[in-house]
Amino acid sequence: MTQTSGAARRVLITGTAGFIGFHLARLLLAEGFRVHGFDGMTDYYDVTLKQRRHGMLLQHGNFSATEGMLEDNALFDQMADDFAPDVIVHLAGQAGVRYSLENPRSYIDSNITGTFNVMEAARRLEVQHLLMASTSSVYGANEEMPFVETEKADTQLTIYAATKKAGESMGHSYAHLWNLPTTMFRFFTVYGTWGRPDLALYKFVDAILDERPIDIYNHGEMYRDFTYVDDLVRAIRLLIDTVPERPATRAEIPSWDSLSPVAPYRVVNIGNSDKVRLLDFVDAIEAALGKKAIRNYMEIQKGDVPATWANADLLNNLTGYRPQTDFREGIACFVDWFRDYYSK
Ligand SMILES: NC(=O)c1ccc[n+]([C@@H]2O[C@H](COP(=O)([O-])OP(=O)(O)OC[C@H]3O[C@@H](n4cnc5c(N)ncnc54)[C@H](O)[C@@H]3O)[C@@H](O)[C@H]2O)c1
Repeated sequence: MTQTSGAARRVLITGTAGFIGFHLARLLLAEGFRVHGFDGMTDYYDVTLKQRRHGMLLQHGNFSATEGMLEDNALFDQMADDFAPDVIVHLAGQAGVRYSLENPRSYIDSNITGTFNVMEAARRLEVQHLLMASTSSVYGANEEMPFVETEKADTQLTIYAATKKAGESMGHSYAHLWNLPTTMFRFFTVYGTWGRPDLALYKFVDAILDERPIDIYNHGEMYRDFTYVDDLVRAIRLLIDTVPERPATRAEIPSWDSLSPVAPYRVVNIGNSDKVRLLDFVDAIEAALGKKAIRNYMEIQKGDVPATWANADLLNNLTGYRPQTDFREGIACFVDWFRDYYSK
């Protein structure tokens, strides 16, 4: 692992008006990086929240941004040429498991065509490292837990997961063909301040405060590896400097490493390695709010998996770091932010 100073390094982050991109940009700016953001401000959820996030970033002298869609390859290429990044962190994309049943095409456009355009720019500009967001959803119907990167992940259950898996495969091919160092992140249910309105924590807090019922799927027998956003972006920061190198032989790859034998490419889980029961999560929200939820127990939804749980040993072996925030602590921070932001 190499650790270098962030001073004057140029990082292009896609999705900076989004939840994770915003937090990552803030962290990198605080460390002295020069950051350019690219975001299409899609209306998948409240655009005002995205504009507020970008507005905060734009107050920083080392931040600049372009508004546009990933699919617009002429615009993306121009922006990338002008900024000339050393590193690209690609986080923009159509997120959300459930919405992929409603509008699958938006996932193909953003996550496949869009990701291809990012890869093309990265190849052309010969960036030092390309890092891209994938998801724990690629583990699909795998049953062996906790999920580990060296296991097969071939049973995606939604188009969302399938497009993210396609992004991993495309990334591997470019890493192999063009010797483009590439790291794919598999994120596990990220939550925290400035969070996404379509995610459970946000919806639950909002509904409980308004005394509306909350839908609890699979009668609460759901388990998620909730990852606090500050921990997640700390892990990304460390992985930026953990550049994969094509191994000379298969024999030199440790059994715990997902490094490809034929490309400077690896996949890394970023999760808390802690499986939290949904009912305990709801209890913690109630405790943070000092208010009880009206609980509406439901069947599991189509495409949903009952559990996710990360083995985060690879991240720890590579960076010496593992996410650790306890979900009760993280929920309390989110609730403080939410009440302040919405004056509720
Ligand atoms: N938050 C999670 O729990 C989680 C879990 C697993 C994976 N991920 C992945 O992490 C990444 C970031 O997620 P997030 O939670 O910050 O989501 P987000 O929706 O808050 O951010 C994504 C951003 O990308 C932008 N965008 C979407 N499609 C675009 C397009 N075609 N062109 C340009 N901009 C576009 C949106 O406007 C948005 O601001 C996504 O790729 C997502 O799939 C997130």
